[in-house]
Parts: sequence; structure tokens; C-alpha cells
Amino acid sequence: MPQSNENPEEILNTIKAQLKLSVTDRHHGFHTPVFTNINNNEISSRTVVLRNFDDNKFIISFHTDYRSIKIKDILNKPQTYFVFYDFKTKIQLRIKTQSLIEYNNNSALLAWKKTKLSSRKCYLTEKAPSSKTNLAEDGIPSHLIGKDPDKEASEAGYKNFALVNNKINSIEWLYLSYTGHRRLRIDINGKKIEYQWLIP
Ligand SMILES: Cc1cc2nc3c(=O)[nH]c(=O)nc-3n(C[C@H](O)[C@H](O)[C@H](O)COP(=O)(O)O)c2cc1C
Repeated sequence: MPQSNENPEEILNTIKAQLKLSVTDRHHGFHTPVFTNINNNEISSRTVVLRNFDDNKFIISFHTDYRSIKIKDILNKPQTYFVFYDFKTKIQLRIKTQSLIEYNNNSALLAWKKTKLSSRKCYLTEKAPSSKTNLAEDGIPSHLIGKDPDKEASEAGYKNFALVNNKINSIEWLYLSYTGHRRLRIDINGKKIEYQWLIP
């Protein structure tokens, strides 16, 4: 087993490097984590795209439609959770977070400016996500079917765009190996980082 799977500080450094890499590498296992929040008294999970990882502030971010039900739910209960799995390295990360919705402000605008036209198209639906429909359709206006909007038309999507910033409270790292599984909990409290090995 490589030394980096026995040393907590090295493990955290590798986690940070892999999360950074997975923002831009869409084939990386960590690129599409499962995000979970609480919907009244039920849990609700879905796949999202990792859009940013701030390794200084320990914030992981994704984009979503401001009209989606999870926005209201997160505003009610910001305690959230991510699960990442990278098949290639056989690493699972279970990350406890506190979510903050950034909408119609400088942070949201900065993130919006970096989006591609193909992503902006998702925010141009006439009906909100989860609206009922009699047809099998995606809600995109008919003149945009099969093509991206131009830059000017895409700007109309900004009113539906939200950046969700999720502050990491703890990371549970699991490495599966024939020679011995390893599990480490990393608690992050400001600059204070604490490590605890667990039986996998
Ligand atoms: C590969 C993949 C990536 C996705 N990325 C996002 C995303 O970044 N943001 C998002 O809101 N939904 C994303 N979705 C759709 C969600 O999984 C989900 O279906 C949608 O957000 C509606 O869920 P909700 O009703 O819980 O809001 C993605 C789905 C897949 C399969």
C-alpha cells in the first residue's frame, strides 16, 4: 500500500488535489458526486456536477436552478451531505457540509460568467424543475431544441441560476484494498483539522 494511504496529512493533501482536478476533468470519478439534503422530514439525493473546490476555505460548489425544490429546502435546513466515489483509485468520500445559496449577487454572477452556452440552456426552461407536464419534454423553448442559445439569448437564464456553496465540516475517507481497507475521519473546524482512524 502506498505510504500516502497511512499518513493523515498526506491523505488530506491527496483528497484536496483530487477534488481540484475533478472540477475540470469530467472523466474523474469525483466530478459527479451525489448531493443529499433534507426535504421536510425526508432525505433527498441527486447527482450534481462539481463546479468548484476552494481548498483554502474548504468549500465545494455546484450550480442549480433557483426554482428547484431543493433551494427552499436548503434555506430551511442547510445541513447537507455529499458522497463521492472514484472507481479508479477506489476512494469514497462522505462529506458533511453546510450549504449557502448564492443568488443574484456578485458570487452568482462570477460563476454565471464562466458557464458555457450549453449549460446556460438548462436555465431557459419556461416551467420550473419538477413541474408536471403531459408530454415527455424538457421544458426548453421549441426554437432551442437541438441547439444552444446565442450569448444574448442565454442571459435570460441568469434569473434562474443559483450557485450552491457548501462549507465542509468533515470528510470521511474510505480506501478499499485487498491488502486492508482504511477509513479516516477528518474534522475541519476553521484552521483546526483533526484526524481519527476508524474501522472500515
Ligand atoms: C450526471 C448528472 C449531473 C447532474 N448535474 C446537476 C447539477 O449540477 N445541478 C443540478 O441541479 N442538477 C443536476 N443533475 C440533475 C439532478 O440529479 C436532479 O435530477 C435535478 O437537480 C432535480 O432534482 P431535485 O428535484 O432534487 O431538485 C445532474 C444529473 C446527472 C445525471
